[in-house]
Amino acid sequence: MLTKIHHVGVVVRSADEALKFYRDALGLPVTEDRVIDDQGVRGILLKVGGSEIELLEPTRNDTGVARFLETRGEGMHHICFESDDVEAELEAARAKGIQLIDEKPRPGLAGMICFLHPKSNHGVLVEFAQPIAEH
Ligand code: CO
Repeated sequence: MLTKIHHVGVVVRSADEALKFYRDALGLPVTEDRVIDDQGVRGILLKVGGSEIELLEPTRNDTGVARFLETRGEGMHHICFESDDVEAELEAARAKGIQLIDEKPRPGLAGMICFLHPKSNHGVLVEFAQPIAEH
């Protein structure tokens, strides 16, 4: 079951520059800040109520996030729905013929995650996440 919007993903050129807005100007606390090598991103989560903002700065040129930044510039990248069973969400989406990016859930910044293709979702990249531990 989808329970809430877990986070909104935003692609930025410089996470340090973006923190000046989200952390310093808006006053949102950083709950996570790390480089995910296999995804080629520095990911930062900032808490706002029961949801989060996820900043994504590419650390390599050969990733989807890097291509997004190159072609579309900085901006909103994806919406992530929280689920209590990410595997079941993915199976349900597959059964309904929704185009998937991930064939099975994998570890990500927000827990176990998977992505659905924006072509199947009216132009919006959709992520499902099942948090491993509550922030
Ligand atoms: Co995300």
